[in-house]
Amino acid sequence: MEESTGSLWEQTTDVDYMRKEGRDTHPSYDWLNGRLVELYDDTVVDFLDCGVMSGTTYAKLKDTGLSCNYTGIDIGEPLLESCRSRFPEARWRYMSVTDLSFPSGAFDVVNCRHLLESLPYYETAVREMFRVARRHVAICFFQPPRDPEALLRRDTAGGYIWLNRYSPGPFEDLLAKLSDTVERIDISQGRRTDRMYFCTKSV
Ligand SMILES: C[S@@+](CC[C@H](N)C(=O)[O-])C[C@H]1O[C@@H](n2cnc3c(N)ncnc32)[C@H](O)[C@@H]1O
Repeated sequence: MEESTGSLWEQTTDVDYMRKEGRDTHPSYDWLNGRLVELYDDTVVDFLDCGVMSGTTYAKLKDTGLSCNYTGIDIGEPLLESCRSRFPEARWRYMSVTDLSFPSGAFDVVNCRHLLESLPYYETAVREMFRVARRHVAICFFQPPRDPEALLRRDTAGGYIWLNRYSPGPFEDLLAKLSDTVERIDISQGRRTDRMYFCTKSV
């Protein structure tokens, strides 16, 4: 049997990938940051970011002026090393979104941007994010959920990668079960539409 390569995300050293793809200026960042400023302007927000890559979410969050106690996780050690050297004041941890080693309710906000598409499936990650969130879970897709569901595992030279498009029905049912309210917003820049789900848990 041929030995298989690991996940591309565990191996990539291309920390600049999102900028090169022109995906670091998408207005979905501004939508979320605007919402967070409305909600957390007068307090320190404990924020968990899942799948950090280049640390762009952190950099843009800092620009808002919000007081933020930020923790970022990723499964790419080279990505985390780069974030640690650029932003040593924040916490950067090697961890999978499907198995978060934080206590329940540890963060005001748990964010996950352009990540669920890269998992074999979303359910464990979503349940883990809601477990560690006290109040809000923000999930942003670059492949907005749409029928029919398409689960695609692609082999590349650097390792395999999942590029999934999920069916909206079961996904939104799960969010509704775990939330008090769910805001769903489509935000476009040119031909790129991001789908944001901003979920509020009951207190
Ligand atoms: C497409 S990038 C998105 C990066 C960033 N959130 C953004 O919007 O620019 C996906 C990121 O998720 C990370 N990732 C993939 N699988 C993960 C997992 N199971 N747990 C945590 N991070 C993961 C990848 O290493 C990569 O940094």
